[in-house]
Amino acid sequence: MFYSNMNIILKHIEAITGKNFVFTDEETRRQYGHDETEDYNFPPTVVVKPGTTEEVSAIMKLANQYNIPVVPIGGRTGLSGGALSIHGGIGLSMERFTKIEIDERNLQAIVEPAVVTQVFQEVVLEKGLFYPPDPSSRGSCTIGGNVAENAGGARAVKYGVTKDYVLNLEVVLPTGEVIWAGANTLKNATGYNLTQLMVGSEGTLGIITKIVMKLLPKNNHNVLMLVPFFKAEQACEAVAAIFRAGIVPSALEFMERDAIDWTLRYIDGVSMPIGDAVQAHLLIEVDGNYLDVLFSEAEKITEVLESFDIDEILFADTEDQKNALWKMRRAVGEAVKSNSVYKEEDTVVPRYELPALLKGIKEIGNKYGFSSVCYGHAGDGNLHVNIVKGNMTDEQWQTEVPKGIREIFELTVSLKGTLSGEHGIGFVQKNFMDIAFSNQHLQLMKNIKHLFDPNNILNPGKIFPDNL
Ligand code: LAC
Ligand code: ZN
Repeated sequence: MFYSNMNIILKHIEAITGKNFVFTDEETRRQYGHDETEDYNFPPTVVVKPGTTEEVSAIMKLANQYNIPVVPIGGRTGLSGGALSIHGGIGLSMERFTKIEIDERNLQAIVEPAVVTQVFQEVVLEKGLFYPPDPSSRGSCTIGGNVAENAGGARAVKYGVTKDYVLNLEVVLPTGEVIWAGANTLKNATGYNLTQLMVGSEGTLGIITKIVMKLLPKNNHNVLMLVPFFKAEQACEAVAAIFRAGIVPSALEFMERDAIDWTLRYIDGVSMPIGDAVQAHLLIEVDGNYLDVLFSEAEKITEVLESFDIDEILFADTEDQKNALWKMRRAVGEAVKSNSVYKEEDTVVPRYELPALLKGIKEIGNKYGFSSVCYGHAGDGNLHVNIVKGNMTDEQWQTEVPKGIREIFELTVSLKGTLSGEHGIGFVQKNFMDIAFSNQHLQLMKNIKHLFDPNNILNPGKIFPDNL
């Protein structure tokens, strides 16, 4: 999409960042026009790579003056299309914001948004510190994107999601003002909590330029086990039973049989014998500082599992085995995608409802003629549902599948859950928001957006249904 005045605007942008950080060539625009959401590509009209908060602020003022959309862009690993420039405009890549400053006295860090999540984890670990949020895309996603989407990952079940580590944020508002949203404190009862409003706002309320993160002391040990179940629904039932037995695992992940089979074919260097009759696995980790405590927790978990129909439990004995199991788990999403055209839903329910959710999803699939591969953070009640096109016709894919997805979301909401646990609403789920919220409720959110962004230039066309 092109805007009148674009040439004048480009001159202004070049004056702000310098010419070297402004790109209008087709290849760069296409590169920044996609994330990991299906096969969408919405190129920005111009890709801009600012280097300082002041530059971001000047760009927002300019965009406001000329009414040009701005889309903040991070690692482009998003699964709901939050970073797609659906109306063109300025694609604001934050990739030059890569500083990390660790405050060991307070167990905090000031992180810039383009720091890759795994890099941050490893840098703090060297100081004996621990940043728990651990999205599967940690090798390429960025902290800024994690904050914008409130990313979760496998450890959220014990340690919480990104929001639980964000103490304070430097934000450039859509109108160009710069604020610190809160304070660098563990407690804060001072006015509305704008820090947490920013977290998970999917790049629609402000551009995050600095993040103050809380850190924990690192753990010394963990025990990891892979449990094969003969019935997938029983694997889901076992999840709530483990918590009721008094254990809080540091990860409790579910993978359907297809998820594992497809992933083992997709990645190199990991093999594993799986009995023919196995339908699903739970990957369970406990962590802490005392191995004997972890062993007794693992024993307690195996006692709970004895009342379910399971095959032999595999304990990962070495770091290599642990790494192989996590490599496999992290690759599930990509493996499923490499197999077929797909749509990914991020359903979440209170964890006890997980068996009902899985059963319902399969019934809905049968009704509308699609198959699904389910996996995810069972301990959080968060099930990723990859609907695969397989040999459905284009017509069925376009007409039947959206009806099925609507029914899946109606089911999650009827189970007191909601549409997304960690991937966000963005572009692809916005027209399902009426299932989770009344019109009045959505209007309230939209009024908040308007207050921050009166000209609706920051990441427009996301979160809110088209007809609101
Ligand atoms: C995962 C991503 C898709 O759990 O959220 O692997
Ligand atoms: Zn996930």
